[in-house]
Amino acid sequence: MQAIPEDPRHPARDRARDRARDRARDRDRTRDRTRARDLAPLATSVGTVRLASAVMTASGTAGHGAELGAYGALGELGAVVVKSLAAHPWPGNAGPRVRAAPGGSMLNRVGLQGPGVGHWLDHDLPALLAQGATVVASIWGRTPEEFGAAAGALAGVAGVVALEVNVSCPNLAGHMFAHSPSATADAVAAAAAAGVPRWAKLSPNVADICEIAGAALGAGAVGLTLVNTLLGMAIDVTGHRKPLAGGLSGPALHPVAVRAVHDCRRAFPEAGIVGVGGVSSGVDAVELLMAGADAVQVGTATFADPRSPWKVQDELSRWCRRRGTTVQEVIGAALR
Ligand SMILES: Cc1cc2nc3c(=O)[nH]c(=O)nc-3n(C[C@H](O)[C@H](O)[C@H](O)COP(=O)(O)O)c2cc1C
Repeated sequence: MQAIPEDPRHPARDRARDRARDRARDRDRTRDRTRARDLAPLATSVGTVRLASAVMTASGTAGHGAELGAYGALGELGAVVVKSLAAHPWPGNAGPRVRAAPGGSMLNRVGLQGPGVGHWLDHDLPALLAQGATVVASIWGRTPEEFGAAAGALAGVAGVVALEVNVSCPNLAGHMFAHSPSATADAVAAAAAAGVPRWAKLSPNVADICEIAGAALGAGAVGLTLVNTLLGMAIDVTGHRKPLAGGLSGPALHPVAVRAVHDCRRAFPEAGIVGVGGVSSGVDAVELLMAGADAVQVGTATFADPRSPWKVQDELSRWCRRRGTTVQEVIGAALR
């Protein structure tokens, strides 16, 4: 940095300015050291992917780019998982798209609106990387070939540490891969084109989620993201609003996610598992970790408070420090 020449007319003012600058720099360094110490117990791995923190954003609830950066340091989160992208732009469903559900839960039928991978690479990824985010891309498609095209467009892209393969969007009529082991395997296999570790994002709307998880792992996934939204519907009995059928997320989904994580951890002790569903506090995160998740994602809570991923992270950090433990020690505690 270029030194600012002293102004001979105001030496005292220059010295005061320098002292203020030094104090600010010391404060920044202390804050960085404190953050590093606070986050140390949260380090984890999902399969082969190492993350500085076990708390991420959930796909579709934090935008495609650095939108949440206005509310916290994206680089301090375990990862930012971006909204699912297709190889092509997609308009999503017509409105209305969301409806409140009891107890802070919500229904959505957004339908995967997105700009396509190419636009995302040019316009959104650079902003995420500039803010120091660890980026997990999420892709979707209507056929295995479309999954392959979206994954292929991400091949060799610097800064994407993993690929979440969304085979479980409930708002895309006729394309629920995650209800079939063979369709899941086909989509996950096609996504190998990205050349980064694959996490299969699965649906809770199945009789045996372990069967689908086994198919995804057999097709090359090293991680499972559990779970996407649950099929739900709201009817306005006054008739003022049209019934809304969509995916249920938020607190009502939490026990469903805990169960899915638990059952898959028991069935697949070596798999990377990410728990997602109704996490809005550090304790919610601990519950998923105890069920066997290696990391968690925060989704719907972010709509009520955009700082939720950092709040969950801070609460999880405090929970660990108060007990002198780490995320690594907590993972799978309920199965031991
Ligand atoms: C408005 C909205 C949009 C979503 N979009 C996506 C998406 O594009 N891709 C995906 O894999 N999951 C998507 N999800 C599902 C979330 O990532 C998450 O799996 C689910 O909401 C459960 O977590 P939560 O209860 O913390 O929200 C979306 C959820 C919501 C509420």
